[in-house]
Amino acid sequence: MEASVRCRRHLPVLLLWVNALMMLGLAGVHQQINLCNESLMLEKLPACGKFFEEKMKKVDSKKWCNLTEFIMYYNNFTQCTEREANNASCFWPNPLAESFITGIHKQFFSNCTLDSVHWEDPPNEILITLIFVPVMLTCAMIMLVVWCSKRSDILV
Ligand SMILES: *[C@@H]1O[C@H](CO)[C@@H](O)[C@H](O)[C@H]1NC(C)=O
Ligand SMILES: *[C@@H]1O[C@H](CO)[C@@H](O)[C@H](O)[C@H]1NC(C)=O
Ligand SMILES: *[C@@H]1O[C@H](CO)[C@@H](O)[C@H](O)[C@H]1NC(C)=O
Repeated sequence: MEASVRCRRHLPVLLLWVNALMMLGLAGVHQQINLCNESLMLEKLPACGKFFEEKMKKVDSKKWCNLTEFIMYYNNFTQCTEREANNASCFWPNPLAESFITGIHKQFFSNCTLDSVHWEDPPNEILITLIFVPVMLTCAMIMLVVWCSKRSDILV
């Protein structure tokens, strides 16, 4: 009896917490979209491309399809775009940054076959957090509700 009462008393508080967390998350997303200075980001991205271009010029163009030859520069390049996007308060990746990166890909890798260059999607911690935290919270809530109703079934 006591357990189920405690459970019922805590459930609304927990729901409020989950609600507040989700609102905070949504507010964060909203704010980021609002503040994203696209012109600032587009202004800064070419510098990343230029840096990458200069590095690639030092690599024999016959080896441009060999990922091991330029992975370091490519990594620097993506980090640079991420940094500039974040500086402009934009999420990374975003469609604008992506179309810029695709342009760079076309410039250097248009002659590479898919077999020789294998692209992996960069890990995106933000998206993972955004997707998994609410999912985990929802699962926790469902388990709690089930547990609470079970307790009261048994005890009442
Ligand atoms: C966006 O960045 C530009 C510089 O590229 C600046 O002139 C403008 O004021 C910025 N806009 C906002 C809303 O911060
Ligand atoms: C790619 O470059 C690495 C390092 O220079 C070399 O060991 C490897 O054999 C090359 N792979 C191909 C497919 O050319
Ligand atoms: C791709 O191949 C074409 C024709 O051989 C050549 O003109 C062009 O410069 C090449 N582009 C790259 C990025 O290697």
